Amino acid sequence: IGADPAGVLDGCRVLPVLTVPDPRTAGPLADALAAGGARCAEVTFRTPDAARVLTTMAAHGGLVVGAGTVLTAAQAERAVRAGARFVVSPGLDEEVVGRCRALGVPVVPGVATATELMRALAAGLDTVKLFPAEPLGGIALLRALAAPFPGTRFVPTGGIGLDRMADYLSHPAVLAVGGSWMATPGHLERGDFAGIRRLTAEAVERSAP
Ligand code: 3PG
Repeated sequence: IGADPAGVLDGCRVLPVLTVPDPRTAGPLADALAAGGARCAEVTFRTPDAARVLTTMAAHGGLVVGAGTVLTAAQAERAVRAGARFVVSPGLDEEVVGRCRALGVPVVPGVATATELMRALAAGLDTVKLFPAEPLGGIALLRALAAPFPGTRFVPTGGIGLDRMADYLSHPAVLAVGGSWMATPGHLERGDFAGIRRLTAEAVERSAP
């Protein structure tokens, strides 16, 4: 697998993006996602206990767990120490990319323009997060941006729900679609793990090739 996101995210067509304020919910959350058929999950580093949440979820064993919203090289280091199998960033930062490479962990930086995509390619990457996909132009933007860059794989994320997911996945350059709709902080606050499982199962079923 090495540092290739396509390897570590193999078979993961839908990537639940998680913001988990209370680490006590991490275990039941991992159970619900795995029961819904998820293969992978991204824990965003937007909450104080994100590293702990990541470690708990990674221990579940049924999920490939990565870190999201990684903004600095130090955060990337912390995420990998906590067990992150991949690192996602909303934008492209060469220091984050460099640290992940040194640690041997795949990194998926966010890009929003052709110029940023060219910087990612120049940094030796071939998989990027298209972010924020829907506000930027959605599937039309994805198609237009993918055309001049054959071989580039995209993980569109941002404003995507179940209704839009399949459109993105039908494009051959799309590796996976990310989104928070399957497990929101609201679900976690209500303890609605049945809802998380149901939304995950629905997404996984509709994402099958
Ligand atoms: C992310 O960080 O990837 C996004 O916040 C997820 O986007 P969504 O919440 O619009 O699905």
